[in-house]
Amino acid sequence: MSNHGPASIGAQPGQAARVTIRPASSGDTDTITELHRRCFPAGWEKTFWASSICDCNHLILVAFVGDRFDDDAAAEIQGFILVRRAADEAEILSIAVDPSARLRTIATALLGAAERELTAQTQKLFLEVSVDNAPALALYERAGFIPVGRRRGYYQSVGDLAADAIVMTKDIATAP
Ligand SMILES: CC(C)(COP(=O)(O)OP(=O)(O)OC[C@H]1O[C@@H](n2cnc3c(N)ncnc32)[C@H](O)[C@@H]1OP(=O)(O)O)[C@@H](O)C(=O)NCCC(=O)NCCS
Repeated sequence: MSNHGPASIGAQPGQAARVTIRPASSGDTDTITELHRRCFPAGWEKTFWASSICDCNHLILVAFVGDRFDDDAAAEIQGFILVRRAADEAEILSIAVDPSARLRTIATALLGAAERELTAQTQKLFLEVSVDNAPALALYERAGFIPVGRRRGYYQSVGDLAADAIVMTKDIATAP
């Protein structure tokens, strides 16, 4: 599976990068665990990622900048998406791009690749996003997700008020 943007390796923020995407394998566990820790205040345990990679109800895709399509190249992973399938629906549990590689359309490429992978069995894709996560809200809106609900105080954080979550959905059965 691959998704090629229009520009070259080493594109700067604001420019689309050439992105290669493949399913995660067990050799990616450490890299995904570390990348998740760099991108979120509460990183998830390595055991969670190891079991998710082996779980057929979970889809994990990883992204590289460039044309690399090499299972041993885990150290170069720049982004990932984790989706959980349930019947004819699926939920994006996590998506992240390394801070050094953001604004080069890597997350957009990951979303598109996940949708293409899911589309045969999945009607609707859901996600939750914090009201104060402007980059993610902009990403999802641009990708065609629409807000359908709000969960009050969903995101607990020490010392701050808990942030609300916006629930968003996209009908991928009819997506172009
Ligand atoms: C959200 C995140 C995954 C976006 O990754 P990315 O690869 O930089 O996103 P893209 O380059 O594909 O951006 C796509 C669109 O999203 C919007 N966007 C992304 N980052 C943005 C930012 N910092 N400010 C404003 N808009 C932003 C833009 O509309 C952008 O398209 P445009 O540049 O053509 O206008 C990344 O910022 C990240 O990893 N954040 C930390 C983890 C996180 O919050 N994940 C989401 C949890 S719900």
